[in-house]
Amino acid sequence: MDSITIRPGDQSHLEVCKNALLCSEMGRVYFISDDRAIAYLTDGFTAGEIMVAVDEAGRALGFIRIKPSGAFGSFPYVACLAVSEAHRGKGIGSRLLASFEAEGFATASRVFLLVSDFNEAAQRLYRSRGYQQVGLLPGLFLDGIDELIMMKRRP
Ligand SMILES: CC(C)(COP(=O)(O)OP(=O)(O)OC[C@H]1O[C@@H](n2cnc3c(N)ncnc32)[C@H](O)[C@@H]1OP(=O)(O)O)[C@@H](O)C(=O)NCCC(=O)NCCS
Repeated sequence: MDSITIRPGDQSHLEVCKNALLCSEMGRVYFISDDRAIAYLTDGFTAGEIMVAVDEAGRALGFIRIKPSGAFGSFPYVACLAVSEAHRGKGIGSRLLASFEAEGFATASRVFLLVSDFNEAAQRLYRSRGYQQVGLLPGLFLDGIDELIMMKRRP
């Protein structure tokens, strides 16, 4: 995965990012339809909040949406992370997180994200990268689904 680069996303990456999002339990639960995913991503591109991982041919493989002060108005926050189904398990999600942290820790001592209780693969990834659960928000977005608050301190 040395050939992967992380760069700002734009509307040309919409289709790949939409499929990465919707081809997951998280996407099916929270975004439900193409229309919602498209609106979410378009908003993120316009706001300059989405970074994409691209291969040497310029093809997008996954994305991360970052809100620089999204946690408590003070700390960098990962609003969304998804990798194309065919490219999971190759280190791309880790690369996107590393790029978020490189930027986030330049200005903040802690970074945050939320992950759903059912999303064990994502929880494992975050724990392996040094994130710790620091809270739980019961039924935050949908009744019956709890969100783990995860935090990483600047190494
Ligand atoms: C969660 C998600 C973003 C992770 O992305 P990813 O690219 O698969 O993540 P990585 O490859 O960096 O790490 C995943 C696993 O692959 C392993 N891995 C890392 N680098 C690797 C490499 N070069 N080759 C093979 N495996 C590798 C990691 O150790 C990790 O293993 P683990 O799950 O046992 O801890 C991805 O699974 C996804 O898009 N899921 C659907 C959307 C979603 O749920 N997003 C999270 C919302 S909070």
